[in-house]
Amino acid sequence: MRIEAINADFVGNVSDVDLSQTLTREEVGQIEQAIAHYAVLVFRDQPLSDDQHAEFTRRFGPIDKGLTKGSKGKRRLKNPDVIDLANVDAEGKVLPPGNIRNVSLIANQFWHSDSSFKDPPAKFSILCGIDLPAEGGQTEFADQRAAYDALDDNLKARIEDMLAEHFAFHSRDILGGSHHSQEEIDALPPVHWPMVHTVPESGRRSLFIGIHTRQIDGLPTAEARMLLHELLEQATRRQFVYRHKWRNHDVLMWDNQCTLHRGRPYDLNKLRELRRCTTEVSGRQIV
Ligand SMILES: [Fe+2]
Repeated sequence: MRIEAINADFVGNVSDVDLSQTLTREEVGQIEQAIAHYAVLVFRDQPLSDDQHAEFTRRFGPIDKGLTKGSKGKRRLKNPDVIDLANVDAEGKVLPPGNIRNVSLIANQFWHSDSSFKDPPAKFSILCGIDLPAEGGQTEFADQRAAYDALDDNLKARIEDMLAEHFAFHSRDILGGSHHSQEEIDALPPVHWPMVHTVPESGRRSLFIGIHTRQIDGLPTAEARMLLHELLEQATRRQFVYRHKWRNHDVLMWDNQCTLHRGRPYDLNKLRELRRCTTEVSGRQIV
């Protein structure tokens, strides 16, 4: 296995490995070490079946079901561990752009950390690019460790002990509402996480914010939202961002504990098919 830096401390490219095969413990260890350093890993030319995708993911921890928890909708994919991120209906036809199900996919264009609204939150996301549009639809990542390091000392001190409330449907509310039922909404009550934490695997301090945050404990809503907005702006400056231009069969793996990501816009009439598996932060909460 070869691991090369795309940027010195953020984003590594992993080659000479076949993710469809069972990895050795040593290979799993090498990937864990690489992601602790780079936070985002790129694997090119890895066509994986859903079962292989889930199997690879399970090597890194228990699988998180994300938004499928509480969801009663008809599923297109057989493997319950794989999240379908294609803009298609249950029969595989591209959704009309105005379809309400597109709201969740459009919400992915906000900067976010996957499942930060859950307890436990997500750790690694592993995203397979199946069929990507020729134009647009890239995925961007922002390094929240470097972003934290660059904050001025006053701001660091101000947010040190702050807790933010993360709510799954906040991004959908901003977009005008979604198709989710009250039952689905009730299944994912808000959670509260420190806005700054230490990533156990690297020992680095990191911001933990994004579009799922809608409130800061103890602050008036307007003040809280403006501070979250200000931090997000600082945390996603171009010097902290890597933009991934997809090729079919790329696999991206990232650590949600210390990165934010967002999809970029694309023509909603065109197919964009991605599938995701996610591990949970296990055995402890984010502190
Ligand atoms: Fe995401």
